[in-house]
Amino acid sequence: MVTLYTASAVISMRQHVWTMGGSPDRPRVINREDGQHMAKGKPVVVVTRRLPRDIETRMMELFEARLNASDAAMSAKQIVDACEGAQVLVPTVTDRLNAGLFDELPFSLKLIANFGVGVNHIDLEAAAARKIVVTNTPGVLTDDTADMAACLLLAAPRRLVEGERLIRSGNWNGWAPTFMIGHRISAKRLGIIGMGRIGQALARRVQGFGMTVHYHNRRRLHEDIERELEATYWDDLDQMLAHMDFISINCPHTKETHHLLNADRLALLKPHAFVVNTARGEIIDEAALAQMLAEGKIAGAGLDVYEREPAIEPALLELDNVVLAPHLGSATREGRIAMGEKVIVNIKSFVDDHRPPDRVYQI
Ligand code: DGY
Repeated sequence: MVTLYTASAVISMRQHVWTMGGSPDRPRVINREDGQHMAKGKPVVVVTRRLPRDIETRMMELFEARLNASDAAMSAKQIVDACEGAQVLVPTVTDRLNAGLFDELPFSLKLIANFGVGVNHIDLEAAAARKIVVTNTPGVLTDDTADMAACLLLAAPRRLVEGERLIRSGNWNGWAPTFMIGHRISAKRLGIIGMGRIGQALARRVQGFGMTVHYHNRRRLHEDIERELEATYWDDLDQMLAHMDFISINCPHTKETHHLLNADRLALLKPHAFVVNTARGEIIDEAALAQMLAEGKIAGAGLDVYEREPAIEPALLELDNVVLAPHLGSATREGRIAMGEKVIVNIKSFVDDHRPPDRVYQI
């Protein structure tokens, strides 16, 4: 049995479940117009990872919050057990909510209020089939994630991390005209794959670096936005890849974007090209990328996300021309608090019988 923690005491799951009237077999419920049922009183909210302290405190005030004091990622069984009698689950990208898990989740569960914008770890079809509402946290992490993409866009070609490693090794012999030469980014072409909020925020940033912005997106942007961003649209991704100096991935991971940059597409890149990924690791074939970087067929990469996090393709760890960040895109104090606030608003709206603002799909 999973042990969870409330504000004051460690209590066991089963003791804590039925605090809202009713019994384990028959909870008291109210009917919602949309056919969903919420138990009366404070909703039971299961949170799978530690959240910023202010957010946890607020959640404990507003909800019957079941917090994960250990912060260890929970197995599918632990999540299912923890959700017994709960109305709301707050997962993160480290949880795998697949179809099998939805078969096991209790019928009391009505809302998945994801802490994060990406929802590729949630089987949305399975959630919709169970009529479970899913929300996420868009908007509030746009700037932080675009900043991280910009960091990697600078750090990789300017060999920042490689240089830092050299200094720490004690082997730096001082400045020399031919020492540690990198690549200029100004006046270079950046191809952004996925021109949503984060892609556009990155485009605004790199205008300041003097890069020219190109993009590929499912839908072409409105001409006013294209003009503002001075962005050139490429309908054909392969064509864009073949003409860019830098590529940044900013699209969501879906069935359609899984291994979008596979070995064949990576082979289209110029040998001096750099790839930056702050979206999801599964969008690139990581093994193919590592091989091409090792063979010098691509100049370098800046990665914040990985195919099998926290595992990393071992070949990548051997390479100096890759900057590796541990999924830090939204990791600012301000960003994480704003994400938590969005989660709370989504839960509160739902339990108060309003439409949560950040629903991922309509039921
Ligand atoms: C997001 O919000 O999707 C971040 O990658 C963390 O999950």
